Amino acid sequence: MLAFVIGSLSVAVIGAFLAKFATADGDFTLLSKGRAKRERVEGKVVWITGASRGIGEALAGQFASLGAKLILSARNVGELERVKIETVGKHPGSCIEILPLDLASGEEALKVAVQKAESLFSGSGVDYMVHNAAFEHPKRKAVGETEEGIQTTFNITVLGTITLTKLLAPFMLKKRRGHFIVMSSAAGKCPAPGQAIYSASKNALNGYFHTLRSELYSEGIKITVVCPGPIETSSTSGAGTSSSGSSERRVSSERCAELTIVAATHGLKEAWISYHPVLLVMYLAQYMPTVGLWLIDKIGANRLNAAKGKGNTDSWELLFGKKWKTA
Ligand SMILES: NC(=O)c1ccc[n+]([C@@H]2O[C@H](COP(=O)([O-])OP(=O)(O)OC[C@H]3O[C@@H](n4cnc5c(N)ncnc54)[C@H](OP(=O)(O)O)[C@@H]3O)[C@@H](O)[C@H]2O)c1
Ligand SMILES: *[C@@H]1O[C@H](CO)[C@@H](O)[C@H](O)[C@H]1NC(C)=O
Repeated sequence: MLAFVIGSLSVAVIGAFLAKFATADGDFTLLSKGRAKRERVEGKVVWITGASRGIGEALAGQFASLGAKLILSARNVGELERVKIETVGKHPGSCIEILPLDLASGEEALKVAVQKAESLFSGSGVDYMVHNAAFEHPKRKAVGETEEGIQTTFNITVLGTITLTKLLAPFMLKKRRGHFIVMSSAAGKCPAPGQAIYSASKNALNGYFHTLRSELYSEGIKITVVCPGPIETSSTSGAGTSSSGSSERRVSSERCAELTIVAATHGLKEAWISYHPVLLVMYLAQYMPTVGLWLIDKIGANRLNAAKGKGNTDSWELLFGKKWKTA
């Protein structure tokens, strides 16, 4: 009788766990944290790069709703103005400044931008630096990558981000307070066939920022590395659904922004945001690399084909090598 009760209880617990895992849109630690802590954000200065669209735009709206003061950066000033107007419309009274910035413009220009950011809001200084901007072009074979593609990716995503960090960190260290939030990617955690250079750039960010944290941990500086899988943004809406009507599910950019702020305000060092199968592959690659890497090698060629045929590049079907018509 006792054995029966214990047996059914374990089945129920395992069943509940599996059901939770099957519908998860983030890693377990992240999903266990509940809501964002407003008191960590209210009145704070949050500088967001890549704020002119996509996840950066969603982050701007959600930080504003939590009472943060915002500095919005990107190259396209018109789009930044639009984001500012729409954000103030949704959250009246928001304090928002626009700071045009090209991450590839070199150290001197970035230094000027950092000084400007520190001087805004009567010199409050930046509390949160959200490194969200990155360069990504359509998926292609690694061996077919152009020199220009490699350089552009690294100039913007890696060198620009690292130099900006190096220039801003001393201001944070003086106050013994500051938090870097880094939009990395699932491609920074496991191989991403068709995105070798993008994956390399995100791995570079992971290496830099996890190491930087270990150096500055005792000096009051926090770093949260966020690794999203496929996210629905205005530029991806409709993508990958045409040819198969199928299983690729993208987390919305609003949910991605929400979970990012949850991760940061709860002090998480790393957080994953994705549905399956990408979330499952991330778990496998991290905890069972032999299995995870075997799986990714099996889907590599299929993912390249899917990208070429404008099919889903993150669906279960890749495992079965569906033949994609080249569009
Ligand atoms: N969407 C996804 O599925 C996904 C998945 C995993 C990770 N991520 C990561 O999440 C972040 C945001 O993604 P997203 O899809 O929202 O990006 P997105 O729509 O492509 O937007 C990129 C942003 O970066 C800015 N940017 C590009 N080049 C820049 C430069 N040289 N200097 C300054 N800003 C620049 C763009 O503005 P301007 O063009 O005006 O400069 C834009 O605001 C990226 O780091 C991306 O790698 C996205
Ligand atoms: C990348 O940056 C380097 C150094 O500033 C520059 O010489 C090179 O032309 C840049 N590459 C591209 C493609 O913009």
